[in-house]
Amino acid sequence: MPRHVAIIMDGNGRWANARGLHRTAGHARGEPALFDVVHGALELGIGWLTVYTFSTENWGRDPDEVAFLMEFNVDLLERRRDELDELGVRVIFIGDHDDERIPPAVLDRMRIAEEQTAGNTNLNMVYAFNYGARTEIAAAAKRIAAEVAAGTLDPVDVDEDTVADRLYLPEMPDPDVLIRTSGEQRISNYLLWQIAYSELVFTPVLWPDFDRRELARCIAEYQSRDRRFGGAIDAVDE
Ligand code: IPE
Ligand code: IPE
Ligand code: MG
Repeated sequence: MPRHVAIIMDGNGRWANARGLHRTAGHARGEPALFDVVHGALELGIGWLTVYTFSTENWGRDPDEVAFLMEFNVDLLERRRDELDELGVRVIFIGDHDDERIPPAVLDRMRIAEEQTAGNTNLNMVYAFNYGARTEIAAAAKRIAAEVAAGTLDPVDVDEDTVADRLYLPEMPDPDVLIRTSGEQRISNYLLWQIAYSELVFTPVLWPDFDRRELARCIAEYQSRDRRFGGAIDAVDE
């Protein structure tokens, strides 16, 4: 069983378009899919589930859609917080949360959800919100530069761990598998550092149609893979 499953929840707009609905109806229908996946992750005993909810590039969408997504995320946190808490899910947010375009109400709800669920241990559910991997890595570089300038870090000591320790959530293990729905086969600036050796699973299913069964199917595909981490095939087969 993978320890960490990361998901790019994609295809909401196409799901809605295919039904003659507004794109935002697709986002709304992504919510039951997400919560079915949470139940699936709990049943399977997955420790970490990381979902891409809003990218740093998504600001470029129509202002109405951006406003909907902001409102929708506050609303979802408000409605689902107690349910997640009762399930023993710890909610954590990663991303650039100093961005002044994020409505303060969204940041407040995030903080409340994190605080309420901080002691839960059944599942770590990480919401990547206003997340971009390049921004994350640049922020880590900025911190390293500041520590070097302050004399608290020697440049000679900068290594992979130095960078990893300064990402948004250093305690998060690297994803074992990254799932992207909707048939697109790209990363779209998600977890670039952390997925160095993740298995990539692409499914044509649009996010609103995704559920715990499809999650299990994607995990079975992951389990059929031969992970090598740069080692020789013989070494792995031993
Ligand atoms: C993913 O669905 C949700 C977000 C990016 C917020 P999309 O909105 O990207 O749906 P498609 O890709 O246009 O179908
Ligand atoms: C990635 O999906 C971001 C989220 C799922 C939140 P996009 O739909 O924004 O990515 P591209 O534009 O197809 O690469
Ligand atoms: Mg998309």
